[in-house]
Amino acid sequence: MNTTNRSSKHFKFRRNAQWSPCKSPSIPASTPLPLPATSSRDCDLSGRVAIVTGGYSGLGLETTRALRSAGAKVIVPARDHEKAATALEGFDGVEIEAMDLLAPASIDAFAERFLASGQPLHTLVNSAGIMACPLARDSRGYESQFATNHLGHFQLAARLWSVLR
Ligand SMILES: NC(=O)c1ccc[n+]([C@@H]2O[C@H](COP(=O)([O-])OP(=O)(O)OC[C@H]3O[C@@H](n4cnc5c(N)ncnc54)[C@H](OP(=O)(O)O)[C@@H]3O)[C@@H](O)[C@H]2O)c1
Repeated sequence: MNTTNRSSKHFKFRRNAQWSPCKSPSIPASTPLPLPATSSRDCDLSGRVAIVTGGYSGLGLETTRALRSAGAKVIVPARDHEKAATALEGFDGVEIEAMDLLAPASIDAFAERFLASGQPLHTLVNSAGIMACPLARDSRGYESQFATNHLGHFQLAARLWSVLR
């Protein structure tokens, strides 16, 4: 297999993609890879509302940090409120809400609370997840990694779809 050709296809796709939602004037979409370092200082997301699942750990926590520093309001659904509150200590403008992706009723309840609040939703980042965990199943019998990473997020996105802009 020719890996050089595969890389070059990938490069062309990335280079032509509209990758910058903030349309930063300093980095045109035609900029060749690797992209120059950018930061949330290039974006103004004031007035925007984002939900970041897993927004209190790993990639999700950094996503929360970046969205907040760009001015967005961030809602972090968490199955462990105390852990989330500790990780997000010092972050103003972040709300922690109860939600367990392995529990369909809690996903519905979270989505219903959000819809009832009347807020628009500009960004949904589905970062929560587990991997390579021992075999376990949710209450419906689905394997836990599939249920958390895929089914839970699918349900969440479907419930919030009508307000996602
Ligand atoms: N980091 C990488 O290099 C990498 C590479 C490829 C793919 N990924 C994938 O990217 C995703 C995030 O990775 P990460 O490194 O940021 O992971 P992480 O630090 O382990 O964070 C995962 C987050 O998901 C939350 N979570 C897990 N199960 C949940 C559930 N049932 N309901 C609600 N929240 C739940 C965790 O909350 P608790 O702490 O309360 O459990 C935690 O906040 C994962 O799906 C991972 O497999 C990561």
